Amino acid sequence: MSMDTSSGLEWPSDLAETARKVKSYIEDFLETVFPPAQTLYQASRHLFTTGGKMLRPYMAVKACEVVGGSAEQAVPAAAAVEMLHTFTLIHDDIIDRDEVRRGLPAVHVKWGEPVAILAGDFLFSKVFLAVSRGLKDRGVPSETVARVVEVLADATGKICEGQMLDMSFEGRETVSEEEYLAMVERKTAYLFKASSQIGALIGGAGEDWVERLGEYGRLAGIGFQMVDDVLGLVADEAKLGKPVGSDLREGKKTMPIIYALSRASVEQRKTILEASVKPERMGEALKLIVSLGGIDYAKTQARKYVEAALEQLKPLPETPAKKSLETLAKILVEREF
Ligand code: IPE
Ligand code: IPE
Ligand code: MG
Ligand code: MG
Repeated sequence: MSMDTSSGLEWPSDLAETARKVKSYIEDFLETVFPPAQTLYQASRHLFTTGGKMLRPYMAVKACEVVGGSAEQAVPAAAAVEMLHTFTLIHDDIIDRDEVRRGLPAVHVKWGEPVAILAGDFLFSKVFLAVSRGLKDRGVPSETVARVVEVLADATGKICEGQMLDMSFEGRETVSEEEYLAMVERKTAYLFKASSQIGALIGGAGEDWVERLGEYGRLAGIGFQMVDDVLGLVADEAKLGKPVGSDLREGKKTMPIIYALSRASVEQRKTILEASVKPERMGEALKLIVSLGGIDYAKTQARKYVEAALEQLKPLPETPAKKSLETLAKILVEREF
């Protein structure tokens, strides 16, 4: 994975180190202990072979450090967040009919939908084992463990709500920006919020900082999804590791598409909306989205959200962990994959 962006912004130098620890924790957790169900284990481990960007675990670890906690204590929870995220990706690719993830065939492509559903559920079960057993083993007080479980369970419910909205928008011609925000807050931002809150909780932060860091994660998460919507239309597919253009095929109402539709003439709207049934017109639809300003608008909005996220960090003393959280928020929207 290349560690810089074309904007010249460097990825946090210690992201790779956190990623390594979290990945190794997850690998131990997913080792086959019941060989007759080996396929389930293989399918559950699949997306960790190349691994993702590990942005959420990094957020959790740094939120823990920024309030004075130890990174080592946060690792099981960071691993839990990444397993939860990966579980949602496995199911999301079934929902979205996408066949490539993290540069690999999606789990449902390699093993079929029934195994992919089980692999997702299996990872979800490990989320709560990593938190309950893993945090206890590292000396985290049981009241904190209970709070972490609560935050994760709540975030999971929110993700389901968001995914439901995302799907329900596919059949609609008009979706407001407000409705879009309600959707992405749930399908994406809540998990970033949960990640930073969990880190803060394990680090022993008071309620005010748990809330404030949660708000940082939520705002950065909204910006992240807006940029993801942009990349889903215009990125280099090989670099992104997942399909480009499938949002148009599925009739998704992403930020650039919503904005373009709101500016489009009747004829232009038709072209954009019909891309889902006329794949040959996809290129034309994409050009329209760009020329109507959809991409620029989504990027500008994303940057506003990140500015607001950075604002939340302002009162914190200048520490390396604070710098990491700042760089992370910027990377979330300046990334190219
Ligand atoms: C992808 O998230 C899913 C969204 C919420 C858009 P990431 O871009 O963080 O995926 P990985 O973990 O790096 O593959
Ligand atoms: C992201 O969904 C949110 C979840 C997976 C819960 P998307 O469908 O927008 O993300 P990609 O583009 O497939 O990664
Ligand atoms: Mg998807
Ligand atoms: Mg989706």
